[in-house]
Amino acid sequence: MRMSLFRKKNVHEMIAKQSHTDLKRDLGTWDLTLLGVGAVVGTGIFVLSGTGAIMAGPSVILSFIIAGLACLFAALTYAEFASTVPVSGSAYTYSYATLGEFFAFLIGWDLISEYLLAVSAVSTGWSGYAQAFLESVGVHIPAFLTGAPGSVEGVTTVFNLPAFFIVMVITLLLSLGVKESKRLNNVMVTIKVVVIVLIIAVGVFYIDPSKWQPFMPHGWGNVFSAAALVFFAYLGFDAVSTAAEETKNPAKDLPRGIIYSLLICTGLYILITLIITGLVPSESFVGHEDRSVAYALQATGLSWLIILVTIGSVLGMMTVILVMLYGLTRVILSISRDGLFPKALSKVNKKTQVPTRVTWFCGIVSGLIGGLVPLNKIATLVNIGTLAAFVSVAIAVLVLRKTEPNLPRKFRTPFVPLIPILAIVSCGYLMLLLDRTTWLFFGIWILLGIIVYFTYSKNHSLLKKEEEK
Ligand code: ALA
Repeated sequence: MRMSLFRKKNVHEMIAKQSHTDLKRDLGTWDLTLLGVGAVVGTGIFVLSGTGAIMAGPSVILSFIIAGLACLFAALTYAEFASTVPVSGSAYTYSYATLGEFFAFLIGWDLISEYLLAVSAVSTGWSGYAQAFLESVGVHIPAFLTGAPGSVEGVTTVFNLPAFFIVMVITLLLSLGVKESKRLNNVMVTIKVVVIVLIIAVGVFYIDPSKWQPFMPHGWGNVFSAAALVFFAYLGFDAVSTAAEETKNPAKDLPRGIIYSLLICTGLYILITLIITGLVPSESFVGHEDRSVAYALQATGLSWLIILVTIGSVLGMMTVILVMLYGLTRVILSISRDGLFPKALSKVNKKTQVPTRVTWFCGIVSGLIGGLVPLNKIATLVNIGTLAAFVSVAIAVLVLRKTEPNLPRKFRTPFVPLIPILAIVSCGYLMLLLDRTTWLFFGIWILLGIIVYFTYSKNHSLLKKEEEK
């Protein structure tokens, strides 16, 4: 029993196998960096920056730096793994080689909740922006189709049609092939980044430094709590590592893609936060949390920039959905290929070289969740899953350094064991700052995972079958 739970994949075999993937190797460093930025810049900066400012005042900038540092430590450990074991599946796969099957499955299960709920949550956010835009051009969606049941006070809503619609559009795109999705992703990300740079370039001339005083009105406690919330804004760079089998030169491109995208996003976030807290008093975001950046510009008289912010946020959220959905399908694909989920989920379409079935399965499930469940408050739930994955990758790096010291590592995490320990401590600490309800849901989801593992996965494990031969 003990042995079977901790059965590990042979890291050498995994590396050898990854060169025979059915998937198409099409992505380079630049594509991966854009994929990362595409997955990262979205709801977090356009929405949560205001909520963070209300919690921490102008020192929300420190919250962004703290969350960014925790991600950087985690990214440095992800990069080592991604360059050493460049196979699809990200933290799940790395853990299979180090911590054993049971923990690997739970981490995969945890990643599924992260990506699935992130897709649904962001689709709900997208729906809000899209509806505001449609209303402004005189198009009205019937009220009952504008939100999940119970999501709008005083209005009977049945289904969030725009949220479901956008997930279906992106699912269709992903099912057509990686190359096509990549092209569109690159265009959308470029527009989004240009819009953000424009906001920074214009906003900087309107900053009133007195708005940064008092800098920390609610103390360090709130700075850290805000960090645990705005962590959501960084989520997504890890999705780059799920593209390992579709990357031309994974050992080189993956670590670069992960680190470059994180650095770009951290820089943009620090600048945007400086600007918005310098434009309006931080407490004035109350009641405008849904559109923090747009509100700050409007209150400063920069209304002409609002349309650009709308375009930037709508495109921004679309790319987040795209990459998260992509990551979700690749994690499920990896788990199913190992026999821990039904085999049917890992079928790759010969013509498009895309796992079509699992792509539609994930799209429909996350689209329905976005359509039926009011998800605007689930950012913390997504965060806890991600932070748990980051902690486990950092542990896995330390374990692999001990068990396989001589494995060729194209990228080595610097200052081991310091950086992995910093990743474990900082991400673990941010997890502790999240509220009880978040922990409760996390606990229930993990419990479900344990049930699935013991009732299905454990008996269908390919590794188990191989060992029994
Ligand atoms: N980081 C992503 C966002 O902020 C999830 O939308």
